[in-house]
Formats: sequence, structure tokens, C-alpha cells
Amino acid sequence: MKIYNTLFFVVACSFGDGLQAQVNPYFLPPVLNGPVYNLNMQNGTHQFNPGINSSTKGFNGNILGPTLIMQKGDQVYMNVTNSIGEETTVHWHGFHVAPENDGGPHTVIDPNTTWTPNFPVLDKAGTYWYHPHAHLLTSKHVLQGLAGLIIVKDAEEAALNLPRTYGVDDFPLIIQSKGISASGVIHFDGPPPEFNLDSTLLVNAVKNPQLNVPRQMVRFRILNGSHQRVFNLGLSNNATFYHIATDGGLKPNRATVTRLRLAPGERGEIVVPFGSYSVGTNLQLMSYGNELPSGTWGATNPWINNPQNVPNYTPNYMNGAAFTVLRFFVTTTTANPVTGVPPTTLSSDVPIPEAQATVTRHKYLFSGGVGGGTGVKIGNSSNYANATEFDMNVVTDVITLDNTEIWTLHGADDQYHPFHIHDIQFYILDRRDSLGNIIPLTSNEIGRKDVVYVGPKETVRFITKFDDFWGDVPYMYHCHITFHEDKGMMKQFVVNRSLYVNKDYTGTTETGSQTFPFKTLRSAVNAAQEGTTIYFLSSGTHEELSSTLLIQKKIIIKPTGTSVLIQ
Ligand code: C2O
Ligand code: CU
Ligand code: CU
Repeated sequence: MKIYNTLFFVVACSFGDGLQAQVNPYFLPPVLNGPVYNLNMQNGTHQFNPGINSSTKGFNGNILGPTLIMQKGDQVYMNVTNSIGEETTVHWHGFHVAPENDGGPHTVIDPNTTWTPNFPVLDKAGTYWYHPHAHLLTSKHVLQGLAGLIIVKDAEEAALNLPRTYGVDDFPLIIQSKGISASGVIHFDGPPPEFNLDSTLLVNAVKNPQLNVPRQMVRFRILNGSHQRVFNLGLSNNATFYHIATDGGLKPNRATVTRLRLAPGERGEIVVPFGSYSVGTNLQLMSYGNELPSGTWGATNPWINNPQNVPNYTPNYMNGAAFTVLRFFVTTTTANPVTGVPPTTLSSDVPIPEAQATVTRHKYLFSGGVGGGTGVKIGNSSNYANATEFDMNVVTDVITLDNTEIWTLHGADDQYHPFHIHDIQFYILDRRDSLGNIIPLTSNEIGRKDVVYVGPKETVRFITKFDDFWGDVPYMYHCHITFHEDKGMMKQFVVNRSLYVNKDYTGTTETGSQTFPFKTLRSAVNAAQEGTTIYFLSSGTHEELSSTLLIQKKIIIKPTGTSVLIQ
């Protein structure tokens, strides 16, 4: 496996920040194939700038992690060892897995222990990622380097005429802006006062990278792994390219675009037709931050109402500007190149029809105002005072298995938030401004999604189905600005097979109340004191209740809509 894309020459260039800097070779993350994946989270050292060591963390290395290649339908066995000296977790971002395999904050991996989940890969071919998700520590661990890509392959994708040779015509790009101090310390706590430090731009942990690309169709799997910055990618000559996949895999149809907007956590796959350039051409992948809407981190104004009051937002050569992300140098065509335009129809995936939804939820995304460092939270109403910060012991939403739901996300303050939900992929229905006018979706918002940009005062609706998995361990939904997540902009849900749990205390039934922290049947049974009668109103079957439990705790199962107790 070729690790480095060799540079023919080294050039000194002038960058937007006015510094003379050396161009570095693109770094291709190594690959791990399954079905057994051994991942060791370790502390390390990395030089972002020559001669300056930064303390970093990585999977099986100093920073980032190997690209995990998986086949849809395979059972995969993960051995995740924690050698970083403090508790953490690892989450398979975008994957549809059982709650105990999801790697959220409840599934702690203690130092010097190994977590060994195994699960079937149910997701469509696409680009996913993995990263830590420990309570209050996500930002630190991710920004210090713990992040890697997962490439899922499947038969539908394999049948298409698309580039897919890793490191030859298919390249991963983990794009991150970080705040790194002059002495090399990586900041992770969020602004202020680190605003002005969010000025180091990395692709696969390399600053000022250059990639040699063959003169043919070349695919890029792009992750915005930043803590806050939105990228608005395009070519330096503004030529069109093909957009083929969103967060959850191939788009229904190929799109021909000049821009790909990615908020933190979002992925997109594109194909660039380098066959139309001659060997020796220099081209750049840019981010057109100058075109981002106000209220977006990276735009000219990161807050809509107090644009002048964001401390230390400038100077930063990326804010409100177009800047280079990656340099391309066109080289000779490989053997057996893919030269054809990606197929018009890419996927048979069909969005869930809106009429199938039976439940609607509203989520309001709040931060405490300019400064943003305190009071970031998600509420169920537009009343900021009623919203609460994340609490590990509070489950906000109990979702019935197989529910199809519409969630309406409200951008309730002056800055954007990238909303992410675990367990499922969703389809965005629409986005509206504060007056109710439709704002067109970007190309990367048409297809399967697990993160969505919610602009200030915008309303974004998505539809999804909570199928297959249920249980006591909560799944998360949160802002993927990592320090917003850590500071409270996260809530949790459980998927439950039974609809209501009512605990009966000596004849007084708290009808409709939800007494247990985790309102699944299993957790209620575990929590019940012996002799307590618990009524479950459900049409489901409860094979997981052993007869022992039924006798010891006098569990009574009451079918929905009947008044007869079955004992
Ligand atoms: Cu990428 Cu809940 O995380
Ligand atoms: Cu996730
Ligand atoms: Cu946020």
C-alpha cells in the first residue's frame, strides 16, 4: 500500500495568511480490513508546523486513524483499546447499530481496557466516521486527533462505473481547522478566547497539502472533521464536478455542481473529471468561505445580529474568505482508468413519504448569545428558560420502535448549529427562513443524512424511521460543534418497544407519568422493587421478560386498548 503520494518537487507558496509555507505531500491514511478491527487509542506527538511538537491522540498511531473498509451485510468485530489514560468511548458516526454498540457517552471504555462490540453492517455503501464521544470530553479527544473514516461497500455501489481504488483514484479527505497555539497546544474548549486560534487548516492532519491526481475521474470522500467551521468547497477555476454521495451513501441521482457545503460531521463524495486537464496542471480545492450565509462559522459574519461583537474572529485568513484546502497536480493516467461521467441514477434509495409520519417533534437549538460559551442547549419549545443542558440521567424522548417521525429543528439564536442524531439516517424535507419562505436545499442535503446545518432563525424538517434497534442505552442527538455538545447542547432518546410505563404504588396509578429514567421494559423491570406492580400498556410481545422476573416482581402486561390485566 502506497502511503505517501510522492511529490515531484517542493515549492514555497504564499498563503492567505501572508506566511511563506512549504507545501507538504498529501497523507493517505492506512487501511484496515475486517471482519476483525483492532483499534488502539494512544497518546502521541505530531508536528503541524515544522519543529513544533503537539501532543496528540490517534488510533494505532499519533493522529487520526486507519480507514476501516467494511462490506454491507458483514458482521464486524471491533477491539477498541483505550491507552490514552482517561476514560473515553468510540462512536460509529452514521451507523445504524444497537444502542449498546453505538459508543455514546454511556458506553465508557475505561483506561487500559478493551471494548469489544460486534454488529452487522446495515448501512449503504458510503463514507462514515468514528470518533470518541465521552461525556464532556468529545471536543478534547476529537480535536487532539481521534477520528478516522469508515468506507462501506455494497453490491449496488460496486455495479456502478465509479472510481473506487483507494489511494489511486479514490482519496479520503478529512478536513479540519484547528486552533493551535505557537507552542503547539491544540485548543479544544471553544471560544472565547480561542477564536483567533482557529486558523490551522489540515487535510488528513497535514498542513498545506498537495496531491498528485491521475488524469481521469477521481473520487474524493470528504469529511468535515472540524469542531465548528463550515466548508464551502469548490475548484479554483470554478469548474463543475460530480456530487455522488451524502452522509449516508449514494444520492438517488448524480448532481453536477460547483460547490459542496459541509458542516462539521457531514460527509460528501465527489468525482472530479481530471481527464479534462493536461498533465502538469495545477488546480486547487478551495473553500469559498466568503459565500457562506451570515450566522455561519467561517462566513464574514459568524453571528447574524452582532457581527462586530464576536471577539477575535478576525484576523483569521479563513474567515469570510476564499482559501486553498488542497493543491492538485495532474499526473499521467493510470492503467484501466475510469473515464466516464458517473451514472445519472446512483441509488434506488427512496425517501420516506411525508404522509407516513405519525409523530412530530420540535427541537429548538439555543446558545447563550454572543460568546456562546455558556447556556448552549436544546429545548422542546421556543422558551429558552425551559430548555435544559444535557444530563446523563435524563432521557428526553422515548420513541416507539418503528415510529416514522418528522423532526422540526429550529435555529433559535444568532448562529448556525450542525444537528446530528444517532441510530438512523434521515431525509431532509425542507428548510425555511424566519418568514416561512423556502430556502433551497444544497446538493449535499438531498439524500440520506445524519447531520444537518441549521442556520440562525431557520426551520429545518426531516423525516426518519426508528427501526430495528431498541433498548435501555440512550442514543444521542446534539449539535456537532464539539464544544457545544460538551457544554450541554445534547439530549438523549431511547427506542422502546412498549408505549407507556406506569408504576402503581399501592393502588395509585400514575397514569401517563414516566417514573423511570430509562423507560424501556427491561430497565423498568430492573428498577422495580420486588412486589411492585408495573403496568405495561403495549401491543408488543415481551419475550425478554423471563418467568422468574414475572413472578418475583409481579409484572403485569396489559395490552393496548384493553382494560383486562393479563397476569
Ligand atoms: Cu459524530 Cu454524536 O457524533
Ligand atoms: Cu453520531
Ligand atoms: Cu451548536
